[in-house]
Amino acid sequence: MYRHYLILFFPFQSHINPSLQLAKNLAGSGAKVTLVTTNRGLKQMESLPTLKGFSYASFSNEIDDDYQSNGFSSYVASLRSIGSQKLMHLMEKYSADGEPVTLLVYSILLPWVAVVARELQVPSAFLFIQCATAFTIYHRFFKSQDGIHGQMDPSVSIKLLQSLPLFSFRDLPSFLLPDSPLSGFMIPVMQEHIQVLEQDPRSFVLVNTFEELEQESFKDIANMNIIAVGPLIPLAFCDRSDLTDKSFGGDLFSKSEDYFQWLDTKPKCSVIYVSFGSLAVLKKEQKEEILHALVESGRPFLWVLRSSNSEEEEVHKMMENGVKGDGIIVPWCSQVEVLSHQSIGCFVTHCGWNSTLESLVSGVPVVCCPQFSDQTTNAKMVEEVWGTGVRAKANEESIVERGEIKKCLDIVVGDEDRGKRMRENAGKWRGLAIEAVKEGGSTYNNLKKLLEISG
Ligand code: UDX
Repeated sequence: MYRHYLILFFPFQSHINPSLQLAKNLAGSGAKVTLVTTNRGLKQMESLPTLKGFSYASFSNEIDDDYQSNGFSSYVASLRSIGSQKLMHLMEKYSADGEPVTLLVYSILLPWVAVVARELQVPSAFLFIQCATAFTIYHRFFKSQDGIHGQMDPSVSIKLLQSLPLFSFRDLPSFLLPDSPLSGFMIPVMQEHIQVLEQDPRSFVLVNTFEELEQESFKDIANMNIIAVGPLIPLAFCDRSDLTDKSFGGDLFSKSEDYFQWLDTKPKCSVIYVSFGSLAVLKKEQKEEILHALVESGRPFLWVLRSSNSEEEEVHKMMENGVKGDGIIVPWCSQVEVLSHQSIGCFVTHCGWNSTLESLVSGVPVVCCPQFSDQTTNAKMVEEVWGTGVRAKANEESIVERGEIKKCLDIVVGDEDRGKRMRENAGKWRGLAIEAVKEGGSTYNNLKKLLEISG
């Protein structure tokens, strides 16, 4: 059956990775897949996958493509008019060339794609790059008069779903909280997504998760067209030696190449891997606390500090000035490959959804240091629902102190009983993730369903 998927994504690493992986899965069925992002994003991405059926397109050359100098929300808003026009032209071109688009897929910061899809009467799918539980929270927040919205009282705990623990204020995605600097920007974006999904019966949501991981949340939103298509992670996590798909491709940052040799010298489950994703910038004081905790723990560590923000310079200086440990700092790495290396014993993470999912499917327990957005919700789920890690508590200045980090590391890597249970739980989720993507598994069947409805 003829299929042409157009996948549009904002050039953030956390949007690129699941978009590319979804594209690989769809192209595997023989479909044509066109990946579309901004000019600057396309130029910046390294080692783009070139699979059969893949092609790339870009837009927005008429404006300054640098959100850092323009302000993020005005940049995102300006993409709307230019992106919509460009998308219309692309859709017309593909139709004229005899390759009409059969499904438009788009990521969170591009809700206008659904408007174009409706106008052209093409089905559309919102690729949601956070967990399904976060989606249920947003849905309730926008829908109910007196649900979460009515309860925005910091002292109140919320019963979200029957089988979930009580959620406090600090466990909700940060931009739902009244004092969040992101609220004014993100709330209308999510509101628009949810409105489109409710008004257009040909639109649906693809979530980067698997059903077994979030059963209750899926029940809660069962009346929506929502499909779990994850984990959208290179399939090497299944340990199949015939698979060459070991990393996402499309990195925005340059990787160093030397860390695998170093990891190979370390004993099984001994190394602490530290990464705060592609967006968070840590204060100098926070980096100092992490470094001291790692050194005091006496364990080897691999720490990603992006050189684009000169993040690593300060830490190198601290190490030169005597805070030495058995650790290496890299500007970027292939995280999915690192997490599946036998030497990794623990992941200190900000709990971005991709990192959280990658830790689950690699079977690696975590220390959660959430910073903003959905990371607080993911940390809650990791600690209290999935049982694969602990959440480190920040002080009043939002800094997690060295004693707290060290205590968490001792629990996850050192504490025989709790640490062992976390590793067992992580192993259990890994097993279920592998089952989900295998022939006959929940994600496998969902992808088949997606191919049927979008042909
Ligand atoms: C953002 C938000 O911050 C997060 O809350 C939300 O859930 C998704 O969007 P980000 O902070 O970048 O994401 O974190 P995350 O979702 O974990 O994505 C980072 C991606 O970069 C992961 O896929 C990870 O594997 C990859 N990565 C990170 C690398 O490939 N190499 C690295 O060195 C570090």
